[in-house]
Amino acid sequence: MNVLIVGSGGREHAIAYCVAKSDKADKIYCTPGNAGIAEYAECAPIGAMEFEKIVAFAKEKSVDLVIVGMDDPLVGGLVDELEAAGIRTFGPRKNAAVLEGSKAFSKDLMKKYNIPTAAYENFADADKALSYLETAKFPIVLKADGLALGKGVLICSTLEEAKEGVKTIMLDKKFGSAGNEMVIEEFMTGREVSVLSFVDGNTIKTMTSAQDHKRAGDGDTGLNTGGMGTFSPSPFYTKEVEEFCDKHIYQATVDAMKAEGRPFKGVIFFGLMLTEEGPKVLEYNARFGDPEAQVVLPRMKNDILEVVEACIDGTLDKVNLQFEDNAAVCVVLASEGYPVSYEKGLPISGLEEFKKHDGYYCFHAGTKLADGKLVTNGGRVLGITAKGKDLKEARANAYAATEWVQFDNKYMRHDIGKAIDEA
Ligand code: AMP
Ligand code: GLY
Repeated sequence: MNVLIVGSGGREHAIAYCVAKSDKADKIYCTPGNAGIAEYAECAPIGAMEFEKIVAFAKEKSVDLVIVGMDDPLVGGLVDELEAAGIRTFGPRKNAAVLEGSKAFSKDLMKKYNIPTAAYENFADADKALSYLETAKFPIVLKADGLALGKGVLICSTLEEAKEGVKTIMLDKKFGSAGNEMVIEEFMTGREVSVLSFVDGNTIKTMTSAQDHKRAGDGDTGLNTGGMGTFSPSPFYTKEVEEFCDKHIYQATVDAMKAEGRPFKGVIFFGLMLTEEGPKVLEYNARFGDPEAQVVLPRMKNDILEVVEACIDGTLDKVNLQFEDNAAVCVVLASEGYPVSYEKGLPISGLEEFKKHDGYYCFHAGTKLADGKLVTNGGRVLGITAKGKDLKEARANAYAATEWVQFDNKYMRHDIGKAIDEA
């Protein structure tokens, strides 16, 4: 079959890598893609929000299946548009992608269906939010309701900071219309785990666990980013934790969406916090994580197209989802200055090494070809993933592979997976 992948990051590169491995794949396309994805797929310069153009492109190329990787087009309803044109598509429809698109919606859903999460209140009015804060406990967490590139969450230690935060989100509209509403929630402590899952509307099958590192600097300092590195599996995601989540979170979420008339098909990403009171949901995403996909998908044994088709057809219960009994670590190579400001267009070298070594992957995030030469084209440039028999070996392998790659202003965290040593 002909497959189109929508997106341009390391996550979409990891998806493209899996699709390319499938016997079912004939021609692979990607919009807009990047220089790494171009190795497997014909990339077309169509933006992920250019729905009409994507539909026309899919028809023109006789695409049989579209996989939407990114959150914005999912929340905006790209799946609905493609389906209306008769094109099979993997990902939630607009009415289900709201699980990620509105934090107020997801919090209300969890409350209604008794899914464990932080205590909260939703606000559509800044004055009400400000007066609520007067009697609140600190630290407290403020969240813009809508999509904000993972940056719409403010953790405030004092009343003054929190008031400033309400102003930033709701009045100054720093995150645009994402801040028309906001959630104020209880601050939780504990380890974070990312669990991705395939969902067919009724059945859910979780993938192996992972952990992200969101802050820019070593020791979890600096600004929040899209993610500076991941490891999989998480040693903190024990059998006991998994059993609790199976019982109270995963199927409960799928059933809740169905009961609300918003059946979810696609990937649900559970951002969990393992608190002293047990696991709680921090957030839902309606897609693979980035860079979680870069450590989870290379460990998946199944043919991705078989799993994706089972989600679309509602036959996921027949799929035996399996992961390798090993580990993977991904270290993101960024451009110095990310996430604030950084240079683009810097030449990249050394990537031929990845072809010579099994179990090593170089997923492109922000790259492009300029006059036939590979250059940086974003803040997160490459995701260097390596497997190992266990997490420690995978981490050593991934860091060794970061040395193969050269570009000016290369920046990375040096403590990805440090938590492994505490497990
Ligand atoms: P989110 O986009 O909702 O996952 O939030 C981004 C990050 O903010 C999370 O990965 C957590 O590190 C942190 N965070 C979000 N909500 C809370 C909370 N209620 N308590 C403590 N930390 C939180
Ligand atoms: N790595 C976090 C995310 O994809 O949202």
